[in-house]
Amino acid sequence: MKKIIYVNAIIRKDESRTKRLIDNILNGVKDEAELIEINLNDLDLTPYNEISYDDKVQNGTPDLFFNYSKLIAESDGLVIASPFWDMSFPSLLKSFLEKISLFDVMFISDDKKCIGIAKCPFMYYVTTRGMDIHDGDELEQGTPYLKALCWLWGIKKFDVTSCSNFDYIGEDAINKEIDRKSVEGIKKLKKLLEN
Ligand SMILES: Cc1cc2nc3c(=O)[nH]c(=O)nc-3n(C[C@H](O)[C@H](O)[C@H](O)COP(=O)(O)O)c2cc1C
Repeated sequence: MKKIIYVNAIIRKDESRTKRLIDNILNGVKDEAELIEINLNDLDLTPYNEISYDDKVQNGTPDLFFNYSKLIAESDGLVIASPFWDMSFPSLLKSFLEKISLFDVMFISDDKKCIGIAKCPFMYYVTTRGMDIHDGDELEQGTPYLKALCWLWGIKKFDVTSCSNFDYIGEDAINKEIDRKSVEGIKKLKKLLEN
């Protein structure tokens, strides 16, 4: 069975709409893939600073994030879920991505260029947005960044399922949209898993 890593960057604990959406989607593929969840709320994601970065680079301090990096690089797919915050995603997720990128596991560098070396074939991103901002809108800065990381890491495929305008439509409309996007998301994730 294929092994998917699910990076959970959902922050609102009981009310999250993104959680409802991703739970439905993952539930829809549970017979096709084994799921390993990394819940970012459980980790110390203090960003690197001059002391901790120096310590890592100069002393090679062993790091939990090396293990996560390997787990993701060798997986059959990476799924990320987060809310849309400040036109992108929460810094909790940025900090995690920065930390797993540092170990010569996702990419390496020769004297001319960077080479992505992750074997993971796809990244699939799920998000919900407060405003009426859609994928591809220049105001939407979450997915362009994630696509750029796929390029850096050598991950060949990227897809996204998103809902928009959730802060300005009623609960019934939100529920309908989550149902609709759950069906669409299951199809997308199954397709990514097929290849
Ligand atoms: C700290 C914070 C920042 C947000 N920033 C934005 C934003 O820049 N643009 C936007 O469309 N919605 C923004 N929102 C609204 C959320 O994207 C929206 O409510 C989303 O559905 C929340 O997902 P959740 O229910 O999974 O927490 C923000 C919400 C919070 C709490």
